[in-house]
Amino acid sequence: MNTSIHSQWSSKLAFIFAATGSAVGLGNIWKFPYMTGEYGGGAFVIVYLLCVALMGLPIMMAEVMLGKRGRNSPINSMKILAAEAKQSQWWQLLGWSGVVAGILILSFYSVVAGWALAYVPKLATGEFLIINSMPLAEVQTFIDATFNSLVANPYNLIIWHTIFMSLTMLIILGGVQGGLERALTFMMPALFVLLLILVAYAMTTSNFMDGVHFMFDINFNNLLYPNCTATSCELSGDGILAAMGQAFFSLSLGMGAIMVYGAYLPDKTSIAQTTAIVVIADTLVAILAGLISFAIVFSNGLEPGAGVSLVFKTLPIAFGQMPFGSLFGTLFFILLALAAWSSAISLIEPAVAWLIETKRFKRLGATLFLGILTWLLGLLTVFSFNIWSEINPLFMFPNFADKTFFDLIDYLTSSIMLPLGGLFMAIFVAWLMKKQIIEAELNGSSKHFGYRIWYFLLRYITPLGVGLVFLNAIGIFS
Ligand code: TRP
Repeated sequence: MNTSIHSQWSSKLAFIFAATGSAVGLGNIWKFPYMTGEYGGGAFVIVYLLCVALMGLPIMMAEVMLGKRGRNSPINSMKILAAEAKQSQWWQLLGWSGVVAGILILSFYSVVAGWALAYVPKLATGEFLIINSMPLAEVQTFIDATFNSLVANPYNLIIWHTIFMSLTMLIILGGVQGGLERALTFMMPALFVLLLILVAYAMTTSNFMDGVHFMFDINFNNLLYPNCTATSCELSGDGILAAMGQAFFSLSLGMGAIMVYGAYLPDKTSIAQTTAIVVIADTLVAILAGLISFAIVFSNGLEPGAGVSLVFKTLPIAFGQMPFGSLFGTLFFILLALAAWSSAISLIEPAVAWLIETKRFKRLGATLFLGILTWLLGLLTVFSFNIWSEINPLFMFPNFADKTFFDLIDYLTSSIMLPLGGLFMAIFVAWLMKKQIIEAELNGSSKHFGYRIWYFLLRYITPLGVGLVFLNAIGIFS
């Protein structure tokens, strides 16, 4: 069954690069370290890794397979597949919620990618070199001030947000396969090499091992009681929910990004093997980024729980101190922006593909329409860091009382929409699709050991896991 109007990846490797390009992004280098820091380290990491292995990998296989079978945008793929499985047309909603989630995520993603762009000239001009002649306390004040003055200025943020959105639109215009394939082939390896250089630097810092302990010593109190004060501690499921959400976010799962990339997959490609590579690469990058960040945090007396600014405060210190730091630093933030770029594309491609399939839109019109919409939504995030930083739209609900627009969009998408999307994909594949179809798409046999583990995880463990984490988060078990 191949009713696609879209073109395909030129090879298996092209798909691996594209899917890795989607997965590896700000989620690994910006979000993973700061969330690990906020939720106290090792326990967060272990829950995250369990979610990656027990939910992430099986769902990614399922999502690629749905795309490869449906061969259309997630909305139309789900329509076709629901009809094939004689199920309700309501399954299209899965595609719809993905389109909405993608646009919401891209709206803040673009703003944060803009921060990375804004740091490129700072490093290129050697702005951080002066920290070499400063005492530690002044270094902290200096890097705080650098970050704070960037986000305090909405005009600045809007300019970088606009640049990043335009770049994203540009690639989307060229069609994902054409523009993306070539760019990614050198970007991903370059980013990886720079990360290794940074790890080498991190190992020379005085407190590297403190960072390792922070990340891998498992202390569940930090995760379960994130809001402890001197006088009171309250049990909370937020940390576990955040770890699960982060697994989905980092792997680009649950909204159709991976599904639409699967739709461009050549027929014969092995799904199991390619997805395993993507998951391993993504996890490795997150762990490396964490090790780098926390080595610098503990060697310079910074706060692991600094929040969204964490990597923008730690990495410049490294680049200020290391040999060729300005060069490496410039390159690093360029590559971070590029990694964000290749992720951003996958956030909007499902919506673009759908508009094109409806045939009322050309690629140009679809791209412009969605780009402008996303750009406008991005202003909510821009203002969350300055003029609206005191505005808490859900102030009447205690759990959300101190959240800004940015916090809420992030929470709604990562912690709710992505896991729910993944849950329904798992249910659809493992409970409703015909086994023969699954076997044919996976080029596998149901007698194969790996296949049976996958099916078991998807059918029982994934839904149970997502369900338990949700129930825990709303306080059922406490
Ligand atoms: N995975 C990307 C990152 O880690 C972000 C991303 C791209 C994404 N496409 C997605 C997240 C789809 C969720 C869904 O930065």
